[in-house]
Amino acid sequence: MMKATNTINLIQLSTDIQTNNLFLQDIDKGLSAVQKQIPSVYFYDKKGSELFEQICNLDEYYQTRTETKILKKYSTHIANSCTPDTDIIELGSGSSTKTKILLEAFLKKNGNATYYPIDISAKFLLESSKQLSNSLNKLNIKPIAGRYKNGLEYIFNLNPHTPKLVIWLGSSIGNLSRHDSVIFLQSIYSIFNTGDKLLIGMDLKKDIKVLLEAYNDNKGITAAFNKNLLLRINTELGGEFDLNLFEHRAIYNKIEGRIEMHLISKVNQNIFIKALDKSFHFEKQEYIHTENSYKYNLKEIDEMSKKAGFKFEYHRLDNKKLFSLNEFIKI
Ligand code: AVI
Repeated sequence: MMKATNTINLIQLSTDIQTNNLFLQDIDKGLSAVQKQIPSVYFYDKKGSELFEQICNLDEYYQTRTETKILKKYSTHIANSCTPDTDIIELGSGSSTKTKILLEAFLKKNGNATYYPIDISAKFLLESSKQLSNSLNKLNIKPIAGRYKNGLEYIFNLNPHTPKLVIWLGSSIGNLSRHDSVIFLQSIYSIFNTGDKLLIGMDLKKDIKVLLEAYNDNKGITAAFNKNLLLRINTELGGEFDLNLFEHRAIYNKIEGRIEMHLISKVNQNIFIKALDKSFHFEKQEYIHTENSYKYNLKEIDEMSKKAGFKFEYHRLDNKKLFSLNEFIKI
């Protein structure tokens, strides 16, 4: 007998980031700067999102399995602390693998649940929503393709009065500067109603060796993820990057408390980009700064939540204190 599949209606919000035009402008600006840089948001086309999923399964990348452990331990508690009419909203849902643990706890408690995953990658979002819906058929799933803030505003306009639990897992906040993180949290706070909660996964400061291994894996998946940026420029903008002439590097910047990813030019070279009708010069060893991944201690997390206006509720940690799941509430 054929298994009935739920129909998924994806809501597509306009996202300037998806237009080639903004990509083109950011590449032009980033590669013309004294310190060349490309915003890390451009990692996540379909291939980049798939590579990121592979990173999450690497032995070295402790973040995903540690956050999963924390979620397994505390999901029932989280579900019990929310009312049955709570809308569950996820920022940057990806494959929703970890969230499934939490959703199962909500379904077990209430019989049903409404889940709004928001993600920039529409194709990936639709595929993972279908899979999730097939395995949790009591789940009311409403995927939204777009930027986080637009997605949140859309949901709050749609359902202004239901309580909200917004989850932001995977330490994605770490890819924003400390200042931008507070600004972004403030913008969530301003959309929230009293009592709404934010559950946020944040990576912790730790032994530098462990951090470096997580971003320099043996199989070279992180290197492929990093170089995918150059591949995107080649395929979408007519760039002429030879991927073999660039090397992936991840370092820990102790002063800033962050991992930095770089793409280093192995030789002196000029790279032509057709869509810009322009060449960019690279000295040997010159690098493009492609990502920052900030690490936090508990005091910094506490202070950050307060700066954004929230009441800090709790930190949930694993035994080795590698990762944290934090709850902030608007009172
Ligand atoms: C998505 N983000 C939290 C990841 C991180 O760890 O900063 C992206 C990543 N970059 C390299 N590996 C994983």
